[in-house]
Amino acid sequence: MPRPPFDHFRFVAPFYDRVSDGQSAAQTLRDLLALPVSGWLLDAGGGTGRISARLSAQTGGVAIADVSLGMLRQARGRDGLRPAHAQVERLPFASGQFERILIVDAFHHFYAQEAAVAELWRVLRPGGRLVLVEPNIARGAVRLIALGERLLLMRSRFWRAEALAGLFDGLPGARVTVDTARDPYSIHLVAEKASV
Ligand SMILES: C[S@@+](CC[C@H](N)C(=O)[O-])C[C@H]1O[C@@H](n2cnc3c(N)ncnc32)[C@H](O)[C@@H]1O
Repeated sequence: MPRPPFDHFRFVAPFYDRVSDGQSAAQTLRDLLALPVSGWLLDAGGGTGRISARLSAQTGGVAIADVSLGMLRQARGRDGLRPAHAQVERLPFASGQFERILIVDAFHHFYAQEAAVAELWRVLRPGGRLVLVEPNIARGAVRLIALGERLLLMRSRFWRAEALAGLFDGLPGARVTVDTARDPYSIHLVAEKASV
């Protein structure tokens, strides 16, 4: 497992939610996640919990897995959230523990993305659903952001929609749909895991 790189997010954590409080994203995600559910939701790379805090009342509970202590500090004390200092590539959770998984604007930051997908699939319950939202690198404006992140030595790795969906090929019971029309600057991917 690669060593976690420098935590850039600790510097922006105190201000992060001022840029976007997550309200409009939460509305869309409520539908894509098919909430409410009685089981737990994992917000992977969930940071301050700005989005999942708005969803927690419609779940049995929300765990946030994130490597940034600064971001997790903001999540602490928010109702219904259980922050865990953990790499998505190596999660401290039992197999099948989560009924829903959410990843927003975080996947391109993960250090070992193929390993992260496999690990997220492990902790997703059969019959569960994973929703992944990523900036759409096919757009010029997003390529500029990617360049900015490279200049900040963030080691981000963005994927085109088809390639992102391809990461789920061969995972047991995976059925994936990808939408790039809902928001031209984002990819919305939904992966359902068949019941056994
Ligand atoms: C741009 S922020 C997005 C936070 C949140 N999903 C949101 O939309 O508000 C990306 C987050 O991913 C976290 N992150 C990056 N790599 C990670 C990894 N390998 N495992 C867990 N979290 C990671 C960062 O610490 C950061 O909090």
